[in-house]
Amino acid sequence: MNFFDYHNDEMMCEGVRLGEIAERVGTPAYIYSKRALLDAFHEFDSAFAGIDHLVCYSMKANSNLNVCKIFYTAGSGVDCNSGGEFFRALKAGVDPHRIIFTGVGKTEEEMRMVLQHDVMMIKVESFEELNVLNDVAASMSNGLSEKKIAPVGIRINPDVDPKTHPYISTGLSENKFGIEASQALNAYELAASLPNLRITGIDMHIGSQITQVEPFVEACNKMAELTAKLKQRGIVLEHFDIGGGLGVSYNGSNSGSNPGSDSPTPRQFADSLRPVLKHVGCKILFEPGRFLTANAGILVTKVLYTKQNKKKNFVIVDAAMNDLLRPSLYNAFHEIKPVKKTKNETITADIVGPVCESGDFLAKNREIQKSKRGELLAVMSAGAYGFVMSSNYNSRRRAAEVIVDGTKFFIARERETYDNLVQNEHLIDGLK
Ligand SMILES: Cc1ncc(COP(=O)(O)O)c(C=O)c1O
Repeated sequence: MNFFDYHNDEMMCEGVRLGEIAERVGTPAYIYSKRALLDAFHEFDSAFAGIDHLVCYSMKANSNLNVCKIFYTAGSGVDCNSGGEFFRALKAGVDPHRIIFTGVGKTEEEMRMVLQHDVMMIKVESFEELNVLNDVAASMSNGLSEKKIAPVGIRINPDVDPKTHPYISTGLSENKFGIEASQALNAYELAASLPNLRITGIDMHIGSQITQVEPFVEACNKMAELTAKLKQRGIVLEHFDIGGGLGVSYNGSNSGSNPGSDSPTPRQFADSLRPVLKHVGCKILFEPGRFLTANAGILVTKVLYTKQNKKKNFVIVDAAMNDLLRPSLYNAFHEIKPVKKTKNETITADIVGPVCESGDFLAKNREIQKSKRGELLAVMSAGAYGFVMSSNYNSRRRAAEVIVDGTKFFIARERETYDNLVQNEHLIDGLK
């Protein structure tokens, strides 16, 4: 289903006109469809029916409290990558027993924070971190009566090429993530010897926007071999966590099921992994982020100016790289559609923002319906790694976030105010 579609030539999100939302909250604004979020979740979850599993939404893709709550209420766990994400998950009402705590560089403060709440699993990514986590847990223990035990999964770096953008490739030896497979048995033996750790599982995450199943299968096979070797040594795992990474279509499909994209559907993904997952003898954990959110959200922006020179047409809009960084950072493609279809001619233009960098663009050399000052454009597939990567660069206020549910819409996050921009700053007395 497409939850961002035209009705009488005007784009709607579910049953609400985008124009109505823009009038109320202004622009730029992120707009998410609750139905699209839930459809994507159910599509992913049901693809693995028959396998004991838990989908743990990776909230780095979109950490809006309401988005987390929607997934959690639908039965998801949550994968958090920082103390801040963990704090947000708790604020959204997530039970810590359904939280995985991830991160290549956790601070002791973060370890303490999550240990206070009895999370499902803390992923560890180095030998040093195993020792530190054990020490932190020991320091929180109160004699033998209240012994704090950290539940530990070890993140393996399987050295598999996920064939995605190098910035979001995480499972190769040259990447900073995890412990290499050849050191894994030693890491588990160290973990087993530390009194304040309890081994719960094995984990990987090889990258994001992965459009083929083969890298997942190769990496899972390596992890399955390790799981079997650990069993022979008496280390029996509860969890087998394959991370996130399933790619989505950025070329025009708004449904979760990826038609028109090169990415596998969840069903194809599940079918390719089923043979290995069925035999590992553990509960399977998944950490999808992008798949669950990318096509459930858009960024609505207003045309501020148009101009031409001898080389180019420019459409200058009120959303910028600080609002949606993906085009500037990865040269990522987002479809851009007019909110109102007109009979205007089509032009080729750069769609750019107000930030003072030439790298500030949403699209380059894009064919687009000729638009006028004041008209609205929809930047599609912006629900993942959109708002969460936004910043205050150029002292721009971060956008509002809106959730549509049927014919109603809710402001899930207000646009920042100018006061918000300086709320943690003060002029220092005596500093001249
Ligand atoms: C450990 C971990 N799990 C899950 C994810 C989610 O990945 P994706 O949004 O591609 O599904 C990421 C993203 O980088 C990650 O680092």
